[in-house]
Amino acid sequence: MAGPRLLGPTLDLGQLDWQAMAMSVDWMSDKQWRGTRAPLVESTGLHPDAYTDDAFFQLEQERLFERSWVCVGVASEVADGERMLVRKVGSRSIVITRDGTGNFHGFVNSCRHRGTELAETDCDINNTIRCPYHRWTYSLDGNLIATPLFDEVPRPGFDKADFSLIPVRVETWGPLLFACMASDTPALSTWLGDLPERMAGYRLDEWVLREQQEVEIAANWKLITENFQEYYHLRWVHPELSKVSRVADHYRYQGPGMYCGQTTTPVSDDDRGDWLAMPARPGLDESDGCSGRFVALFPNVMLSVLPNHIFLMRLEPVAPGVTRETCTFLLPPESGEVSGEAFESTRTFWLEVNDEDINIVQRSQRGLTAGHISPGPLAPRFEEPLHRFQNMVADMVTLDSLNDLKVPIGDTNDEAARLGTAANPTPPAIDLPTSTLRSGSIRASGADPT
Ligand code: FES
Ligand SMILES: [Fe+2]
Repeated sequence: MAGPRLLGPTLDLGQLDWQAMAMSVDWMSDKQWRGTRAPLVESTGLHPDAYTDDAFFQLEQERLFERSWVCVGVASEVADGERMLVRKVGSRSIVITRDGTGNFHGFVNSCRHRGTELAETDCDINNTIRCPYHRWTYSLDGNLIATPLFDEVPRPGFDKADFSLIPVRVETWGPLLFACMASDTPALSTWLGDLPERMAGYRLDEWVLREQQEVEIAANWKLITENFQEYYHLRWVHPELSKVSRVADHYRYQGPGMYCGQTTTPVSDDDRGDWLAMPARPGLDESDGCSGRFVALFPNVMLSVLPNHIFLMRLEPVAPGVTRETCTFLLPPESGEVSGEAFESTRTFWLEVNDEDINIVQRSQRGLTAGHISPGPLAPRFEEPLHRFQNMVADMVTLDSLNDLKVPIGDTNDEAARLGTAANPTPPAIDLPTSTLRSGSIRASGADPT
């Protein structure tokens, strides 16, 4: 007679106490993060509850998202005095405006009268923010400027100046707009580390939003960014692409800063010329002009910067196993004449690759949820960025004060040039036809993004 079915040689599901396992996670304990804190070659991935558990999700919303510089969109989505954004940062809702001088302002999305939500979604405005309830009205920089009928019976001592909207820190870097709910989080410049210097040659603030779309993914937000951070999966998840991609063309691209990065040199192409159909931005140096930069900026935005386009993915956690992803295409300002067809081939390429990634991370989510297995070892050759990222997660969740936050240092080893740890590193020697480097048309065979 057949005995109980075992999963693997030793694991008997019937012997596991699931409730005790779930209760045993103490996220404030160093012991819980031992596999994350271990040196890379001894490290393990995060406990499955980090991807599936409601309590951890809440903890993460409060301690990680509400204390980080969270990307909330592309700066040009906010129009001076005419368009206001509404965004979730952790469990909080904020609005973002831009005044006539081009300055951005962020506020808690709650009226100072009786707390009503000022706006439900992104909306057109007419130079003021107006509460829908009793029409208290605020200027774009948050000052209370009108309180209809309120003075019919005067209140002694009432002063509008005491009831401005509650400000939230808002900053930009390049095309990206960031918000931070906490006051003790280091300045955005510290958060970004050397990225502004490293990517200065692209003049990122000039790139123009071409198209945007949203997709809901049935996976935890960390699985999506972790997938972006490693190319270990390339050959198997992107089989068509990997025929013309070489793992050997990927290098780490990490200096000091709250990010994980890799670079692909030379930038990849495929049979259809998907990535390279559009002209490169004029004026890029040799390194930028033939490379793809893939940066996962902690916690929630992934930038793929190529010589001729940028593909952004911004994540907004909805639930432990649900994430909203906003995908944005940006083109160089000189790309006004790019044909719809050329853009379409790049767009289609990205969306196909992204679909392959979405399928696999959703499968990871299902496996973690159903299997609840202990985390396995990270591959030192490919998954160092995940180790770096998971340590950032551990820091944000466990630190009581962000004055103690240690922004990760960059890669330090004697292969710095090859791994791309200098600012705008010179790529390794590449055997390319000379025509590949001319401005306006890059063509090379190479590797894959993610
Ligand atoms: S709650 Fe906003 S005006 Fe009354
Ligand atoms: Fe991928």
